[in-house]
Amino acid sequence: MNDRVDVLHGVNFDVLGTRDKAHYGGLSLPELEVKIQDHARELGLEPSFYQSNHEGEYCEFLHRAVERADGLILNPGAWTHYSWAIHDALELTGLPAVEVHLSAVDQREEWRRISVIRDLCVGAVQGKGVDGYRAALEMLKEAMQ
Ligand code: DQA
Repeated sequence: MNDRVDVLHGVNFDVLGTRDKAHYGGLSLPELEVKIQDHARELGLEPSFYQSNHEGEYCEFLHRAVERADGLILNPGAWTHYSWAIHDALELTGLPAVEVHLSAVDQREEWRRISVIRDLCVGAVQGKGVDGYRAALEMLKEAMQ
């Protein structure tokens, strides 16, 4: 059964609860993960969580993802907009992936409108806060079947 999902949060997500509420909703990372876990379980998926502020470690985690997961939910934070290293590591996984952003990146600064991982993802959700993760899990479930 393809039900194992790695949810990977990138740089500055460890301090999510202290970041701009208008964009990120004010939840701490553990609170966000509980909500994602509830959504995943409702969909019959088994989530695991990872966060790093270190790009190389994030890439190394992706190198091993195929041993652990059937699909990936990625919110790499600011790395989304420029990290070709994460693009290449994601490509190496060969796993279906969905990109998520809590905030409406397409309506913010010009530089946030670029995503270097979007071409590798089966879908992208932005600007829906926590609910965006539910939509992303639904898309991923479809892609993992
Ligand atoms: C983010 C959007 C990014 O531009 C930003 O750097 C983040 C969070 C989001 O979830 O809205 O760290 O990925």
